[in-house]
Amino acid sequence: MNKHQFDVWSINYDETVKKSTEGYPFKGYEKAIQAIYCLIQNDSNTKILDLGIGTGTLTQKLYLEGVRITGVDFSEKMLKQAKQKMPDATLIEYDLKEGIPLVIQNIKFQYIISAYAFHHWEDKQKIDLIKQCADLLTPSGKILIADIMFSTLFDRESCKKQYRNCWDDEEFYILADEFIRTLRSIDLDVKFHPISFCCGILEILVR
Ligand SMILES: C[S@@+](CC[C@H](N)C(=O)[O-])C[C@H]1O[C@@H](n2cnc3c(N)ncnc32)[C@H](O)[C@@H]1O
Repeated sequence: MNKHQFDVWSINYDETVKKSTEGYPFKGYEKAIQAIYCLIQNDSNTKILDLGIGTGTLTQKLYLEGVRITGVDFSEKMLKQAKQKMPDATLIEYDLKEGIPLVIQNIKFQYIISAYAFHHWEDKQKIDLIKQCADLLTPSGKILIADIMFSTLFDRESCKKQYRNCWDDEEFYILADEFIRTLRSIDLDVKFHPISFCCGILEILVR
């Protein structure tokens, strides 16, 4: 999907996600968001970067708890809604396929989080982005990625068969077994938390 399509979707994004949590692709979405909160220990000094922040569904609760939020998204209209929910957050309009925006490359974050954005990028782009993120973490910092994700190719193909009428061939879903091997080969520690048949969380730490 391009920037314009996300601008259009922003009008009813929150409603559609709430309504479509039963099957592929959003089964497990709310549980994943709750699981991310459980993996985060925050106080008023915590800085969090949200990649593909959208309307702010994931970060709003953390913002209300006093966390300092920086969000990046290429959809101006998604960011407009996020701004209404989180007026003091730093929101940056930027295409993450180009990497991390220059203006935040010198900031350190305790957590870099993302929900349902990484499947828009090919694996190579995902890895390049994660490598850049690793350099932005404080020493005990973590990257937490919740997304449409499968343990193995077999699981992805089973889901594709079951949901062939609405399967999106233009998206790039993480296969946890392969992806974790790649991340470990570049010195990152990774834990996989399966959430539903089509959703999981990767918890990534620098060794
Ligand atoms: C499915 S929405 C998820 C939004 C939010 N994280 C949530 O959980 O509700 C995906 C978001 O990623 C953003 N996005 C997709 N591709 C992007 C890119 N190349 N650069 C920046 N943002 C992008 C979209 O604009 C959209 O807001």
